[in-house]
Amino acid sequence: MLISLKQQVALVTGASSGLGAGAARALAAAGAAVVINYNSHAEPAEQLVDEIRAAGGQAIAIGADVSKEDQVERLFAETIKAFGYLDILVANSGLQKDSPITEMSLEQWNTVIEVNLTGQFLCARAALRQFAKQGDRPGVSRAVGKIIHMSSVHQLIPWAGHANYAASKGGVDLLMRSIAQEVGQQRIRVNSIAPGAIHTAINEAATQGPALEKLLKLIPYGRVGDAEDVANAVVWLASDASDYVHGTTLFIDGGMSLYPEFRDNG
Ligand code: BGC
Repeated sequence: MLISLKQQVALVTGASSGLGAGAARALAAAGAAVVINYNSHAEPAEQLVDEIRAAGGQAIAIGADVSKEDQVERLFAETIKAFGYLDILVANSGLQKDSPITEMSLEQWNTVIEVNLTGQFLCARAALRQFAKQGDRPGVSRAVGKIIHMSSVHQLIPWAGHANYAASKGGVDLLMRSIAQEVGQQRIRVNSIAPGAIHTAINEAATQGPALEKLLKLIPYGRVGDAEDVANAVVWLASDASDYVHGTTLFIDGGMSLYPEFRDNG
């Protein structure tokens, strides 16, 4: 199966590092023109643009905070101005503000919900409006548009000390499935990816030394994932190869969501 995203335009939010950067790189390698959205880190975003261009791909970087309605509207307007179309949205931006529940400030709660959940709503809404406006793209993509929400194993696994994060990802699950139910008839495909522990900056402390040993007990497949593991799934979900996949969450977690504590009879 050869996957090509040629002539397609992909917007990846939170793409200056981690899973977003990995997804942007892979989408560009598959032939898509890529918009690399960042919030505060312009420099790595511009470096990624240079890297993609040097490899013969098309990319631009656009700064915008996905939790702000006016900035999201501008992000999509600039995307269309630059490339004319939008075929793929990877709603990836996300952050953690960890705290025991009784210590958690309203600010910690709100920031996580605003970026991880409201941001995904605002970006999905803008993408859906654009897909409806531009309509069918025969010969380019079977679906009129594709949305991939970046969720987490914590849309399923409760996470003590991270209630705001787990609540935001639980929200992403029902947001994704409700949108999928609503727009499927327009031939717009909507899915989620739920990564487990992946080697990225957000996980640096958890994936080294004694913490790593503890973490590996939670991963039946026995290794921490890499950004490419997730990026490969993004490319597949964005392509015609997955054209009958709709309203689904793909767990990329080495089996973390299999309740490995029960391996030895619980
Ligand atoms: C979080 C990581 C965590 C992983 C598994 C992800 O959603 O961002 O920090 O290691 O879930 O617990």
